[in-house]
Amino acid sequence: MCGIVAYIGKQEAFPILIKGLKRLEYRGYDSAGVALLNGTLNVYKKKGKVQALFDYANQKELSGNTGIGHTRWATHGKPSDLNAHPHISGNGRLALVHNGIIENYCLLKKALEKEGHSFKTETDTEVLVHLIEEAQKRNNLPIEEAVREALTQVVGAYAIVVMDKQDPDKLVAARKGSPLVIGIGEEGFFLASDGTPIVEHTKKVVYLDDEQIALVKRNGEYEIRTIRNEVYTPFVEELTMEISRMEKGGYDYFMLKEIHEQPATIRDAMRGRLNAREGWVRLGGMDDHLEKIKSAERFIILGCGTSWHAGLIAEYLFEELARMPAEVEYASEFRYRHPVITERDVVIAISQSGETADTYAALELAKKNGAFLYGIVNVVGSSIARLTHAGSYIHAGPEIGVASTKAFTAQVTLLTMMALQIGHERGVIQEDYFQKLLNELNSLSSKVEKVLATNDKIKYIAGEIQHAPNALYLGRGYNFPVALEGALKLKEISYIHAEGYPAAEMKHGPIALIDENMPVIVIATNKSAYDKVVSNIMEVKARKGIVIAIVQEGDQEMSKIADYTIEIPEIEEPLTPLLSVIPLQLLSYHIAVLRGCNVDQPRNLAKSVTVE
Ligand code: G6P
Repeated sequence: MCGIVAYIGKQEAFPILIKGLKRLEYRGYDSAGVALLNGTLNVYKKKGKVQALFDYANQKELSGNTGIGHTRWATHGKPSDLNAHPHISGNGRLALVHNGIIENYCLLKKALEKEGHSFKTETDTEVLVHLIEEAQKRNNLPIEEAVREALTQVVGAYAIVVMDKQDPDKLVAARKGSPLVIGIGEEGFFLASDGTPIVEHTKKVVYLDDEQIALVKRNGEYEIRTIRNEVYTPFVEELTMEISRMEKGGYDYFMLKEIHEQPATIRDAMRGRLNAREGWVRLGGMDDHLEKIKSAERFIILGCGTSWHAGLIAEYLFEELARMPAEVEYASEFRYRHPVITERDVVIAISQSGETADTYAALELAKKNGAFLYGIVNVVGSSIARLTHAGSYIHAGPEIGVASTKAFTAQVTLLTMMALQIGHERGVIQEDYFQKLLNELNSLSSKVEKVLATNDKIKYIAGEIQHAPNALYLGRGYNFPVALEGALKLKEISYIHAEGYPAAEMKHGPIALIDENMPVIVIATNKSAYDKVVSNIMEVKARKGIVIAIVQEGDQEMSKIADYTIEIPEIEEPLTPLLSVIPLQLLSYHIAVLRGCNVDQPRNLAKSVTVE
């Protein structure tokens, strides 16, 4: 939620900021702004995408070797030029960009108003910049001290960068609950919400931790202190991103590129972790903790959105393959209902970004209660990756489309390997079945390619149902979470109301909605409940619903009753989600394109949800 980027050094700041903001646009895109320092402080802000800011600012005074930029996902105050960041102090001296929420901003605002401050915007951020101004004025403090002093009064989450017109050779950054990375370049410092704006300038980075404040100077010096003013020795790490993976590479949308990357990303998730020929699977992250993990009393799986759906699949996997009890929770619900957590619980956090605020906070709670935390994360070095005791990266590469696709299949691949390894270690999975699943995983990518080859048929079906106001997704067993995920994908990017349901539950409510205008997408690949799914489809057809069935290759029966079928290769049931979700991703994609929607940046959404 909201992306921030900043630069201080020898180069012109504006091109660095604009390019960085475009990279960060996945974090929010309702308005954008920059502030540039070259003796005077020039601030340009515009409602809309980063391109709108660029078009607006392009003709103006853009020189300056110091600058800060922001792309916004509105929380306090509607999207507008005025509410866009950067925000400026009352005396016009300070400029600030912020990602997060200042929860006590009302109280702070009232106190500042008594001191004579007046506010122009509806944002919590403007209060913060006035608070820093007040601290600076009252005690005649240098900017880094004023920031520290002000932040001791703040409740909430923030990643900020502050610029002082009267101290132009410094930038001050701080974080608590929202991410901030400092890139250390030959020609200056690059600060950003993640590594994507930094990687083409330098690979040397420092990840700021909570309650740390960084002072970076034009002369190349920098220092990090805690909010309690203790000096912190920074740990410089290397960024491992590749720039080419952040470009569309000839595809119309990132989402389409990411859907098509799945044969490779699924393979990457397994690389070095599974060898079917030798008959082993091993997650390095579990190495030192295997005893603890396999003897856990239960797994508590936490996530939000698509990651929660991956967690639901993991519940089936852990129970069936590892015979371990597992509970799946929305992180946001878990943290607020006094959950019973003990030292014998293993909490598995699933997060693409590694920054989702609710997941992070739920993990902090579990950690406080003594649970062991295992992270399944995509973004290397992210907050959740660093909070957990151990974990495995899914190695899906940057996912830029807001609707998650390749991260989901990589998460499920990883969770499958985890369940298999634990099941094998515990001796609860039959050796030949274990080997069979390893073989299947090994050849999975070519099956994914086969599913992707059905694209034209899916596009045709998309054309047939694109005007439907509603859609229903049904699945059983492993495919129930896939039905939820299919419905979520459609909602997110095409704005069609969609619901996912366990197929058998349809008759307890959703069946009332079915008429000749209702597309019902049924995932009908489960061998274990095939006849039951056929009955469910008959029930839909009897009410004139339009049935689109995802079926196994060569299924003759379904094609007689469904209006449309999409075939996926035959595969063992625990692995079906890895194939059955792909037609649903493509279906949503094509419907959204046909409806003229912005697939990569759907309205109101953001990819990294760093507010609660
Ligand atoms: C947002 C994104 C979803 C994502 C969810 C959880 O809602 O739009 O695509 O599934 O956050 O994010 P995480 O990064 O924790 O997986």
